[in-house]
Amino acid sequence: MTKKGRILTGDRPTGQLHLGHYVGTLANRVRLQDEYEVFLLVADYHSLTTHPNKEDASATRPNSRELVLDYLAVGIDPEKTTIYRQSDVPSVTELCLIFAMLVTVPRVERIPTLKEVMDAQHIEQPSLGLLTYPVLQAADILHLRADLVPVGKDQESHVELTREIARRFNTLYGELFPEPAALIGEVPTLMGTDGQGKMSKSIGNAIMLADDAETVRQKVMSMYTDPKRIRADIPGTVEGNPVFQYHQAFNANKAEVAELEERYRAGKVGDVEVKKKLIVALNNFLDPIRERRAKNAAKPGLVDEILAAGADKVRPISADTVRRAREMMGLI
Ligand code: TRP
Repeated sequence: MTKKGRILTGDRPTGQLHLGHYVGTLANRVRLQDEYEVFLLVADYHSLTTHPNKEDASATRPNSRELVLDYLAVGIDPEKTTIYRQSDVPSVTELCLIFAMLVTVPRVERIPTLKEVMDAQHIEQPSLGLLTYPVLQAADILHLRADLVPVGKDQESHVELTREIARRFNTLYGELFPEPAALIGEVPTLMGTDGQGKMSKSIGNAIMLADDAETVRQKVMSMYTDPKRIRADIPGTVEGNPVFQYHQAFNANKAEVAELEERYRAGKVGDVEVKKKLIVALNNFLDPIRERRAKNAAKPGLVDEILAAGADKVRPISADTVRRAREMMGLI
């Protein structure tokens, strides 16, 4: 079957993935494996932009393994999708350096994720590496000349910069790069269990794909719901209520969800029943993921083999792009 194009996307290896990743981007990646040629990147250099010390740098190795196990667990098939680690394909950093000449400092300073990361991690002055974060991301996407980038909504501004860089290169030196599009998932922003903002592991409001059934039960039972509803007979609000957002995203029994919403709005169901049904739905959703994860985690060399094969496949594609770029620039 001829493929519609090429996908490149990925994650930093900072630990395990959560339900927000699933609806934001993982589901798209699994769904598109047959239609597109898909590349999945474990962005270990990107992890260093905020955590360069030795301990965190070396943690990217075990974290990469967890990330790949999550990919396989949700249904990424390594026969169809090429999974590789960024630092195993060093030519991407060459392209990043070339791209760095095409972007001004104020342009990267305006990217909203920079301020968000600096605020969240109490960083007063960004390192040059942190400023370059989205430029390296553009190199990740463009060294494989990808057309489509399935990512969470927070990453849209990076794909926009990637398009600008592609345009700028093409204008200055000739057509080499496609202008890739971002593909955002069905639920662009899944709320955290605290209902305060988006689900994020670092805030501690996340349900991880690898959480066991008991952990899921505890997290759901302590979830934020509608604060105005101090008794079950008070009509509740479904919109903006994370318990219902999760029901809509993960409960396969749509009739049950519709019925619960109706009773909630009418003040005819207690939070406990809504939560208990959510626990069942989430565990039904997560059970096959957990099973696949456990099965793969028990195979000792599996992840290393997948990453080695991925890097072998990506290196020549990347090297070819960089050579063509240098040629077009008149460097060779
Ligand atoms: N910045 C992305 C994130 O934090 C990870 C990433 C690095 C990425 N390089 C990429 C995503 C290239 C898509 C394409 O989620």
